Amino acid sequence: MRQLIREALPLMAAPLLSLGLEEGTWEGLVGPSTVGGSLADVAMPCHSLSPVLKKSPSDIAGEISSAISDSLIGIAEVSSLNGFVNLSAAESWLSARVEVLTADPRMGVSLDEPRVIAVDYSAPNVAKEMHVGHLRSTVIGDAIVRMLEFKGHTVHRENHVGDWGTPFGMLIEHLLDIGEGNVAGEKGISDFDLFYKEARTKFDEDPEFAERARSRVVMLQSEEEETLRLWRILVDVSTNYFNDVYSMLGVLLTDDDLMGESAYRHLLPNVVDRLSETGMLQNSEGADVVFLGGKWLNRDGEPFPVMIRKADGGFNYSTSDLACIIDRVERIGCDELLYVVGTPQKQHFEMVFEVATKAGFMDQSHRAVHVNFGSVLDSSGQMLKSRKGQTVKLVDLLREAVSRAESSISEKNPGLSGDERESAARMIGIGAVKYSDLSSDRTKDYVFDWDRMLSFEGNTAPYLQYAHARICSIFSRSGIGRESVQESQINLGTPEEVDLAKTLVLFSEAVDYSAAGLYPHRLCTHLHSIASSFASFYEVCLVLDEDEEVKSSRLAMCDLTARALSLGLGLLGIDCPERM
Ligand code: ARG
Repeated sequence: MRQLIREALPLMAAPLLSLGLEEGTWEGLVGPSTVGGSLADVAMPCHSLSPVLKKSPSDIAGEISSAISDSLIGIAEVSSLNGFVNLSAAESWLSARVEVLTADPRMGVSLDEPRVIAVDYSAPNVAKEMHVGHLRSTVIGDAIVRMLEFKGHTVHRENHVGDWGTPFGMLIEHLLDIGEGNVAGEKGISDFDLFYKEARTKFDEDPEFAERARSRVVMLQSEEEETLRLWRILVDVSTNYFNDVYSMLGVLLTDDDLMGESAYRHLLPNVVDRLSETGMLQNSEGADVVFLGGKWLNRDGEPFPVMIRKADGGFNYSTSDLACIIDRVERIGCDELLYVVGTPQKQHFEMVFEVATKAGFMDQSHRAVHVNFGSVLDSSGQMLKSRKGQTVKLVDLLREAVSRAESSISEKNPGLSGDERESAARMIGIGAVKYSDLSSDRTKDYVFDWDRMLSFEGNTAPYLQYAHARICSIFSRSGIGRESVQESQINLGTPEEVDLAKTLVLFSEAVDYSAAGLYPHRLCTHLHSIASSFASFYEVCLVLDEDEEVKSSRLAMCDLTARALSLGLGLLGIDCPERM
């Protein structure tokens, strides 16, 4: 209720001054109420004023309440309880706010001062199976991109795929052993885990293979033409697979966003030079490293370095990320660098950011954030694995989601025909997987549970999509056009209408709160409260009422609810079917 606070504060100044409270001494106490409900939208706890005014908090709250209530007529009803002044949005104020929203396609969401932001997300590894951690990164990253773009920022999607480094020696040799014709193009690699494991086993057990792999790494690093061609086959086969997953998921990533580790390889010597110019680079047993000191100690309490160039001349994951920071800051001109990567890489990012700041690759004007997330667990609390104990294949998982959604809607709505059912099943199945990931606090581990995510009850995508579809059907059944109600006068006659109006008015705050903290679950929580308020409203209020004014107000509220749900879900990368 920021708007309510914004409007109320100036009107409270004079009455509070008359009680001896100078401007600038009390405004910070006024904030959103934690009690909620009809009692209070905004509250002012008066306990801290007690020593100043030498009265009890409840006396102060009572006096303030009587002093301001006249000034706030038409804005809020004022009361006091237990030392709190409570403001509850006035019905006329609320209906005027809702009327503003009906004419606003952005549902009240304002534009920020634009920044240039790189969002590093998805980032699977070439010639390896994409795992559920990459699914989380892809889904969370994509939602963050959409929210930030909607807030008016220039967003660069960066898919930092793992496509370079020493493992490619053995992977290329294994490719040659299998025969490139059996892999290239359409054929692809059906089991990346197996491919990687076979290469690894040969590398560990067969000295002749290991030797070939090592010299292949040297050829790759010197960019020998034939070796690069073979490397490209692996990259292409993998990116085709990633693209299949992306298109099933319906995320924004395209080939234009691919900016893998290999893209920074020519910048790596430059990182070394620049670190050495700053005097930060040290030699440790033949390797170039940076000791940051401070808290970075290993188990034995010895300083623990950031590896920049190994003794054999090879570069490290950190070096690539440093090159990447230079590129994003200096070439793209980013103000902000966001990395949507699992929590296990926390230390890596902290150290890389610290090196980059000390070396002057970033300064005070830049913000780098590790947008971390927890693991995906199965119902027994273990890391999610396939039945055979392998990495879950994401395409299989997404196909299963769609097919489960299809059986559930066939049961619920047998009237839906082939194509429509298929497309609704895709929106519901994929939406369920995405939403169950997005709706839990990303920093926590989350439990993957088919039944819960596909349920039509609770904080789930199907529940929100269903509320949206229900509203679409109210309009289609009544033959009334959605646009025709968008300028209706709003009357909030029942508590349920007031309640729904409040959740709609708070939509823009929820988007801001979610985007500012990079926490998609905050928006999910609010969308769920919109859908639940709608359910209570629809249970009590006859929408197609005989009274024309009541009817058009209620239809306008329905339309707004549907728009908030589809806009909100859209910002999370989730579609809404009109029928399901
Ligand atoms: N490919 C890495 C992995 O699978 C993630 C890369 C994240 N991005 C980055 N700039 N380091 O763990």
